[in-house]
Amino acid sequence: MQQQSLSFLAVITVFASAHVATARDLRNVTEPKNPQSCISLKASGKDDTKIIQKAFDSCTKGKAVALSSGIFYSGPLTIPSGVSLLVEEGVTLRALTDPTLYDLGAKTCGTIDEYGLGCKAFITMHKAKGSGIYGKGTIDGRGGSIMTGHNITWWHLARDAVVVRKNQNNPRLIQINNSVDITIYQITLTNSPFYHLVATETVGFTVWGIKIIAPASALNTDGIDPVGSQNVTIAHCNISTGDDDVAIKALTAPAKHISVLNNHFHRGVGMSIGSECTYGVSDVFISGLTINDTHNGIYIKSNTLRGGHVTNITYENVCITNATSPIHLETNYYHYNGTNTPVYRNITISNVKILTNGTSIIHGLDKSHLIEITLKNVHIPKDSKFSIRNAKITGNFIRDVNGGQCGYAGNINM
Ligand SMILES: *[C@@H]1O[C@H](CO)[C@@H](O)[C@H](O)[C@H]1NC(C)=O
Ligand SMILES: *[C@@H]1O[C@H](CO)[C@@H](O)[C@H](O)[C@H]1NC(C)=O
Ligand SMILES: *[C@@H]1O[C@H](CO)[C@@H](O)[C@H](O)[C@H]1NC(C)=O
Ligand SMILES: *[C@@H]1O[C@H](CO)[C@@H](O)[C@H](O)[C@H]1NC(C)=O
Ligand SMILES: *[C@@H]1O[C@H](CO)[C@@H](O)[C@H](O)[C@H]1NC(C)=O
Ligand SMILES: *[C@@H]1O[C@H](CO)[C@@H](O)[C@H](O)[C@H]1NC(C)=O
Ligand SMILES: *[C@@H]1O[C@H](CO)[C@@H](O)[C@H](O)[C@H]1NC(C)=O
Ligand SMILES: *[C@@H]1O[C@H](CO)[C@@H](O)[C@H](O)[C@H]1NC(C)=O
Ligand SMILES: *[C@@H]1O[C@H](CO)[C@@H](O)[C@H](O)[C@H]1NC(C)=O
Ligand SMILES: *[C@@H]1O[C@H](CO)[C@@H](O)[C@H](O)[C@H]1NC(C)=O
Ligand SMILES: *[C@@H]1O[C@H](CO)[C@@H](O)[C@H](O)[C@H]1NC(C)=O
Repeated sequence: MQQQSLSFLAVITVFASAHVATARDLRNVTEPKNPQSCISLKASGKDDTKIIQKAFDSCTKGKAVALSSGIFYSGPLTIPSGVSLLVEEGVTLRALTDPTLYDLGAKTCGTIDEYGLGCKAFITMHKAKGSGIYGKGTIDGRGGSIMTGHNITWWHLARDAVVVRKNQNNPRLIQINNSVDITIYQITLTNSPFYHLVATETVGFTVWGIKIIAPASALNTDGIDPVGSQNVTIAHCNISTGDDDVAIKALTAPAKHISVLNNHFHRGVGMSIGSECTYGVSDVFISGLTINDTHNGIYIKSNTLRGGHVTNITYENVCITNATSPIHLETNYYHYNGTNTPVYRNITISNVKILTNGTSIIHGLDKSHLIEITLKNVHIPKDSKFSIRNAKITGNFIRDVNGGQCGYAGNINM
């Protein structure tokens, strides 16, 4: 008898770990370690682009170019495959603010047009394997500085673009494309003119213990955007931005096997999936998250232009304060119309505490495309408001919250 129940328990344990095992980063990710450096550079106080790029190009694979003292000024840089950047504590790498340095050839960088694709990023990795950015220093995109040769800042340009319903051509801070096993560790990223950290079609992307800081008013300053990437872990990060703190997208390829663990978001738009879901977002595990002072908390956004399947998404141990829409699942984002149906299915939200009033929104597309979510142990204040249509909700909101404060990584301090 005794033996039987033990083996029954063992079976349950195996199922339980297999269950979690497939719907997250499939790698076993541990805290990264800084690589050894191939060279140590001191800032000259002038334009150091050529010196840094030359150091990258002659660095042995597996090692890092260390920026070891001062404030470096640089134009766009490319980190080669296998090589890393190490910005030591107290050191800052600042982006030069001349749009012509970032221009991709059409002379549109620093201007407004229909596309917003005229600039290269400040730091690019393309088809890299085993590269990274490390160190307790800072990379500053200077989005709030006047562009050289212009009379406004990058962020001001972004606001002007909204007024005329077009797009600003601003550089992203870090763009990683078609790469493998990329690590971003401990660094502080600040004031990007556009998105801070984007990994497109990258497999094996670890972001651990970084800080991202930009003003809440700076448009399009997304924190971390994995786009069509797989085996992604974002852990122990503090993010405060003017747009999506994290946004998982599937614009040109599926986004799957993604873990977002023990993070803290302050200001910005929230923990987002979308709006580009075209190739499908699946097997995402979000655990241990504090969200404070944001527009949305748990946010999935798409529409029939950028739609696709969003499935097998688990949120657990999330604490949300002062979010306008603590839970926001939207299938008609900006009312864009197209022929891609957004389908949100098998979304589980468990052990969540929402500590302040807000209006949660759950809007499925239509009667034949219901949003399917399961709620387990989701606590909200009794005066919380809702707008719900075309949704199949399993479980209930528990209206018993009365005060309290969110601590770090989803913990609650009562
Ligand atoms: C991760 O660790 C578990 C437990 O040690 C092990 O069973 C599994 O094979 C590992 N997975 C990978 C991809 O290394
Ligand atoms: C993700 O990681 C797992 C475990 O290391 C590996 O088996 C799988 O091939 C990886 N996924 C991709 C798309 O490479
Ligand atoms: C900036 O320069 C433009 C012409 O390039 C001018 O029209 C505009 O008034 C100037 N704005 C400010 C704030 O000086
Ligand atoms: C990286 O990918 C983005 C999105 O597909 C693209 O706009 C950009 O041009 C690519 N950059 C490089 C250096 O290939
Ligand atoms: C994030 O904030 C928490 C709480 O203030 C702190 O313990 C943690 O070290 C911070 N992490 C980073 C990467 O700044
Ligand atoms: C939440 O935001 C408020 C206002 O910005 C701040 O005072 C408070 O410390 C924040 N709490 C956490 C846990 O970050
Ligand atoms: C709540 O968030 C809004 C928008 O981010 C902010 O303006 C406001 O100061 C916050 N309120 C508190 C009490 O933190
Ligand atoms: C729902 O997603 C979870 C992981 O989030 C997965 O374990 C489960 O098998 C999925 N269920 C279905 C019916 O796909
Ligand atoms: C969702 O999870 C189930 C069970 O692991 C799996 O069979 C299914 O393929 C997953 N869905 C997607 C879109 O990956
Ligand atoms: C999409 O279609 C709806 C209904 O026909 C319409 O109200 C809306 O303006 C359209 N959106 C755009 C961006 O054209
Ligand atoms: C929620 O709103 C009600 C009425 O608008 C207010 O009395 C209550 O204090 C608010 N509760 C919280 C936790 O913000």
